[in-house]
Amino acid sequence: MTGIILYQSKYGASKKYAQWIAEETGYEMLETKKADIEKVKKYDVIIIGGGVYASSIAGIAFLKKNIDSLSEKKVIVYCCGAAPYDEEVLKTIKNKNLKDKLADIPCFYFQGMWDLEGMNFTDRAMCKMYVKMLEHKDPAEMKAWEKPFFEAKGKKCDWTKKSYLTPLLELINKGEE
Ligand SMILES: Cc1cc2nc3c(=O)[nH]c(=O)nc-3n(C[C@H](O)[C@H](O)[C@H](O)COP(=O)(O)O)c2cc1C
Repeated sequence: MTGIILYQSKYGASKKYAQWIAEETGYEMLETKKADIEKVKKYDVIIIGGGVYASSIAGIAFLKKNIDSLSEKKVIVYCCGAAPYDEEVLKTIKNKNLKDKLADIPCFYFQGMWDLEGMNFTDRAMCKMYVKMLEHKDPAEMKAWEKPFFEAKGKKCDWTKKSYLTPLLELINKGEE
């Protein structure tokens, strides 16, 4: 089986996971914004990954636009957010990004990175506002996945881990047996 990994990464986490998947599978990697559907549809397996921004997966528009051309393909989505894995978080992301024709596409969530000082001006302003809002929240009412945003504050955090990829790689291998 042939495969391609499309990724859209602003701060590096989705790209790092794409590189790890490429290492394990030998698949080609390409930035989603440079992808051409005529090329992509020649592969058997198409993996699309991107960072999570306000619950939206970066680059998912490519899949929405081209889903009809990929109906016979094995399509897998992964996304990276700063929050640790949580079923509720993944459900919210799926509901927002994978609706209608995309609803049955497997979607994996991997924890990414967080670096307030390394963000561009707009992102930093938005994230600082979010952290401020959390500071006013009663810690007892804070959800498990909100805590890292609050605790990270100005620190540079990298929560990426290659082992998170195991279920995704198993799913690819299932198709190859
Ligand atoms: C403006 C903005 C919004 C974000 N929204 C979320 C979010 O809704 N959920 C989450 O878990 N992480 C959120 N993050 C954190 C990013 O998902 C995290 O930094 C991730 O590593 C981004 O992927 P990338 O490194 O591939 O760009 C946000 C970050 C920024 C800058």
